[in-house]
Amino acid sequence: MSIELLSGDCLDLMATIESGSIDCAVTSPPYNMNLRIRNGKHCSRQIVKEISTKYENFPDNLPMQDYYDFNKKVIAELLRTCGTVFYNVQFLTGNKSALYRLIGDYHENMKEFIVWDKVNAEPAIGGGVLNSRWEAVLVLQSKEKAISRKFEHANFGRGELQNLLQIKRGKKITGTHGAVFPLELAEMLVRSFAPITGTILDPFMGTGTTGIACLNTGRGFIGIEKDKCYFDIGVKRINERIKEIEQDGLI
Ligand SMILES: C[S@@+](CC[C@H](N)C(=O)[O-])C[C@H]1O[C@@H](n2cnc3c(N)ncnc32)[C@H](O)[C@@H]1O
Repeated sequence: MSIELLSGDCLDLMATIESGSIDCAVTSPPYNMNLRIRNGKHCSRQIVKEISTKYENFPDNLPMQDYYDFNKKVIAELLRTCGTVFYNVQFLTGNKSALYRLIGDYHENMKEFIVWDKVNAEPAIGGGVLNSRWEAVLVLQSKEKAISRKFEHANFGRGELQNLLQIKRGKKITGTHGAVFPLELAEMLVRSFAPITGTILDPFMGTGTTGIACLNTGRGFIGIEKDKCYFDIGVKRINERIKEIEQDGLI
């Protein structure tokens, strides 16, 4: 199985990938956590370490229009390069208007809407706000393929898998990256929807969870990460897992 880890901006690097050459994307973009509301308008949250941001080096506070534009380009590139796209997002103040617009724009590409139930809700950020217990995994394909809910590569039997998944949230891999998705979720998506000899792309690799899921399920992986610090953590984690698997004689 081939593992390729690329340091840089995902839009620049995805542009070098051949159209239709990848089976699936399993990814989670930044959530724009630090765009908040003041006086009825979006504003950038003052980033204070104690109340923090999920990331050490990344402000995660694009103006809504820029967040929308960025994600629109990323999804277009993912649809160009990958057969099936699993796009994990949580609907928050700082992104919901952009995400609802994107779902509208790509409505013909929406094959499924998987609800990831994190089992325990995150406490509401303030009074009058609902506790947030779930995240979405938007499943997108080309218009021709998305018209049907049937998956071409479905490594599961009839009635075995639901579009509501109960999986507890991911463990913090480092003190400085709090937006990690659980290995169980990534593994489930890769195992269920990618061909056995398939390749998976994660253009927001972060600490490399999708890469570990690919190693554990024998799939190839291409990971892209812009932040050098997270890239190094992802590379280290993936290399350690490769060593463990080699020692166990599994590859
Ligand atoms: C939600 S996190 C992904 C976490 C990952 N799923 C994990 O398990 O660690 C989003 C990641 O995207 C990275 N990122 C943000 N903008 C990027 C860009 N333009 N190109 C590549 N990576 C980017 C951030 O540095 C962050 O690590």
